[in-house]
Amino acid sequence: MHILGIETSCDETGVAIYHTQKGLLAHRLYSQIRTHAEYGGVVPELASRDHIKKLVPLIRQVIADANISKRQIDGVAYTAGPGLVGALLVGAAVARSLAWTLGVPSIGVHHMEGHLLAPLMEPDPPRFPFVALLVSGGHTQLIEVEGIGHYRILGESLDDAAGEAFDKTAKMLDLGYPGGPAIAELAEEGDVQRFEFPRPMTDRPGLDFSFSGLKTHTLLTFASTAKTRQDKADIAKAFQEAVVDTLVIKCRRALKKTRLTRLVVAGGVSANRSMRDKLRRMAREESFQVYFPRLEFCGDNGAMIAFAGCQRLLAGQTEPPEISAFPRWPL
Ligand code: KG4
Ligand code: ZN
Repeated sequence: MHILGIETSCDETGVAIYHTQKGLLAHRLYSQIRTHAEYGGVVPELASRDHIKKLVPLIRQVIADANISKRQIDGVAYTAGPGLVGALLVGAAVARSLAWTLGVPSIGVHHMEGHLLAPLMEPDPPRFPFVALLVSGGHTQLIEVEGIGHYRILGESLDDAAGEAFDKTAKMLDLGYPGGPAIAELAEEGDVQRFEFPRPMTDRPGLDFSFSGLKTHTLLTFASTAKTRQDKADIAKAFQEAVVDTLVIKCRRALKKTRLTRLVVAGGVSANRSMRDKLRRMAREESFQVYFPRLEFCGDNGAMIAFAGCQRLLAGQTEPPEISAFPRWPL
């Protein structure tokens, strides 16, 4: 079965074709970063317009890359939410129209389920059950995963998502958008000894997170420095390590609480090198296994949507004929 996957929830147009036996055949990604950079963040209306321009040409290219004809597509998966409603509706309308003209089923996929399942596309994928840490621009969640569609939220952020905290801190330090990679890069030059930032909510039981206090702490620290490149690097380092340590502490706690031994980490922030290193170290110490998507599938992409949609279609799931999108949608 060939499944076409379409991702348009935010500022990346992602398209891919996943084959049930052969795996991922083709994938392409168009990033709108340059369109939004001058505004310091994503402008929803510009995002929708750009998806309209790029989506159909990308679908054509991916079908050619996979060396198949459109008649060989057996199903179309698209991100139905959560995300920007205009951007989501572009993907939903194109996906469902295409499925209808080809006479094949379509399936709306939860964006975070796409992230969650992305590590399963790698060689040597994790077996169920496992604990998943989803860390993106909109979500920070610990989830107990028993199988496809069987998810129990163990904890989540009570305010900012981890990626959002990276983005806001980067803005504060004048590092531009998107903030996560900019903070991570500058943190390489930072002195970890200079500032000690708090690890929020780690001194009490539970698996929820809170990152907004850390953001304020960063702001106050920044206000009291000379704002040289070295000052910014030291703050970026202190901030990053505080977020990473907090995530590592809660992952260890979630694994112990559930008595599970496999940890899956996904979403844009899972590209962070310090986080990958520290989670691997924790896993070694505790004899856990940790799984990440390859770097290009940490952020938004069409491959994860094709893969997740494929699992849903294989399970016999279909959807009603009306086109809908969910700007907010609990997993
Ligand atoms: O999953 P994603 O691409 O989109 C959402 O679903 O939100 O995640 C984007 C988030 C942004 O907040 C971005 O700053 C963050 O992931 N991010 C990073 C890194 N790369 C991307 N955060 C920390 N370190 C990184 N290397
Ligand atoms: Zn995402």
